[in-house]
Amino acid sequence: MTASRWPLTKLPVIQGPMAGGYTTAELVAAVSNGGGLGSIGAGYMSPESLRTLIQKVKDLTTKPFAVNLFIPTSPAVDLPQVERMKKHLLPYYRQLGFESVPELAYDPGLFQKQFAVVLDEKVAAFSFTFGTLKPAEMSALKSQNVFVMGTATSVEEAEYLRKHGCDAVVAQGLEAGGHRGSFLNGKFPLVPALELVREISLKVKVPVIAAGGIVTADDLRKMLEAGACAVQIGTAFLVCHESGAAQEYRELLLKGKPEDTELIKGFTGRWARGLANRFSREMKVYDSDVPDYPIQHWLTTPLRKKAQESGRTEFQSLWSGQGLGSLRPCSVADYLATLTQ
Ligand SMILES: Cc1cc2nc3c(=O)[nH]c(=O)nc-3n(C[C@H](O)[C@H](O)[C@H](O)COP(=O)(O)O)c2cc1C
Repeated sequence: MTASRWPLTKLPVIQGPMAGGYTTAELVAAVSNGGGLGSIGAGYMSPESLRTLIQKVKDLTTKPFAVNLFIPTSPAVDLPQVERMKKHLLPYYRQLGFESVPELAYDPGLFQKQFAVVLDEKVAAFSFTFGTLKPAEMSALKSQNVFVMGTATSVEEAEYLRKHGCDAVVAQGLEAGGHRGSFLNGKFPLVPALELVREISLKVKVPVIAAGGIVTADDLRKMLEAGACAVQIGTAFLVCHESGAAQEYRELLLKGKPEDTELIKGFTGRWARGLANRFSREMKVYDSDVPDYPIQHWLTTPLRKKAQESGRTEFQSLWSGQGLGSLRPCSVADYLATLTQ
């Protein structure tokens, strides 16, 4: 595959979807207006907020953009394990003024409601992670000519996504910030992005989008030469003016080095790359006894939310890829210009 096969936008650059309030309408629209593909990270959004955000993006751009959702997984619910975890989390909650660990609050039907909004709003592109869509969901998108992208961490997952109808796969290298998207056979592959792109483009007949540690024009060029049709960039967009990242998070990213990141399970029950902090270090001892995603995600959500409101970065999930060291705080337009130099 070559860059010329990327069909959606002028630049072969996707702003990575980033759930958690980072992909503001301004960020998504600025990327799309600048010739890339903006993406709304909607995994945690209520259907109402998602609809409002899509409509706001449509007010700001007429160009294509994507919406991204998390494929629902079926966690093994182990109640004694949940109680043990609550005990471990209580001291952190107390430090932020809570008397106890709040009860789990979540909607098991969230994905279906979010997906209905996506279909109703008729977006140009849809991406997902943690598995694949059901055939009826894929057909519904195809009947609207939506461009569909799934996340793969191995050749096997890329082939699986191709067979299930994806128009392109995001090859998530080990350097990538955020959750690992691995979903097949209980495996947890950690392949560098360049190698994964080469392998998938050799073995699977599907356009490949490279993700993980990509920041500069040189990184972009290398991925296209390795066979990618486009790249997906997350962390570098977090420090753009238009992103929703808080100031203290941006500062840590800007002064961070690749070795400051690690794979962390304690925040959500699913391995994710982020900046190491007090919570990630202290929670490591429980790695073999963390409730499955998304149970742990819901157990720690009020803690992380309060920590964010009070600027306490030691209790926040600070997702970050390994492309630290050359990030620059600037507008999306200026950042995109550096990629095409
Ligand atoms: C803060 C953050 C949140 C993310 N959330 C999502 C998400 O909701 N869905 C998804 O498919 N990928 C998510 N990712 C992955 C990005 O879309 C992208 O693939 C990744 O950041 C690329 O690696 P990089 O950060 O090294 O550029 C997230 C990444 C970060 C840094």
